[in-house]
Amino acid sequence: MKKIRRISADRPFSLCVQPAFLIGTKNEDGTPDFAPITWVSATCGQGEDYLLVISMFGGKRTRRNVERSGVLSANLVSVDMLPIMDYCGTRHAGDGKMDAFPWGIGRGEKVDVPTLDASRWVYECEVEKTVEIGQSATFFCRIRNIQIDAAARFQDAFDVDLTKLDPVIYSGKYHNIGKMLGCIGDFSTQMGDEKQ
Ligand SMILES: Cc1cc2nc3c(=O)[nH]c(=O)nc-3n(C[C@H](O)[C@H](O)[C@H](O)COP(=O)(O)O)c2cc1C
Repeated sequence: MKKIRRISADRPFSLCVQPAFLIGTKNEDGTPDFAPITWVSATCGQGEDYLLVISMFGGKRTRRNVERSGVLSANLVSVDMLPIMDYCGTRHAGDGKMDAFPWGIGRGEKVDVPTLDASRWVYECEVEKTVEIGQSATFFCRIRNIQIDAAARFQDAFDVDLTKLDPVIYSGKYHNIGKMLGCIGDFSTQMGDEKQ
């Protein structure tokens, strides 16, 4: 494998390969709200459980809704959902952005949260812990239910083929993913070939 020539960056570049989600919450009057949030990751809970980790900056409506209700949905954004993502990302809840929302909205099966009909993977979550740093709040969320596109037919947690979900990946620009390359261990036999 060749040695990469790197240059030091004098600006605060941020490389965060971020999955795109639309976070669904309820406003105080019960109406739904969705906001694009890409600071989404996971960490380990007890046993096989894992917690979704979602970070929000500033005083946006979605953050206030989560702090008030303690629940949210995280709707994976696939490439065909980019118009929904951009619609929600360029309007604020206070601007009445959901008044003319033309896409289907459902409700969680286990948690009382709005969900997006178009999403192929929806987490229904309850916030277990919130950590505030500066102007950001990070929510550690217990996953109460996952709704997965029935057509994907995944067998277990390691059988998730992202190409079937076609997720949007964000890093300042929108991307899609390429091929499914294999499983853990598939490449270990190539180590000898790589040595120089
Ligand atoms: C691609 C994209 C990614 C975003 N990611 C985040 C994020 O991770 N955290 C955050 O606090 N805001 C993020 N935002 C900004 C919110 O989505 C935006 O402030 C939104 O309008 C808030 O809507 P609301 O007023 O309904 O809460 C993102 C926006 C876009 C377009």
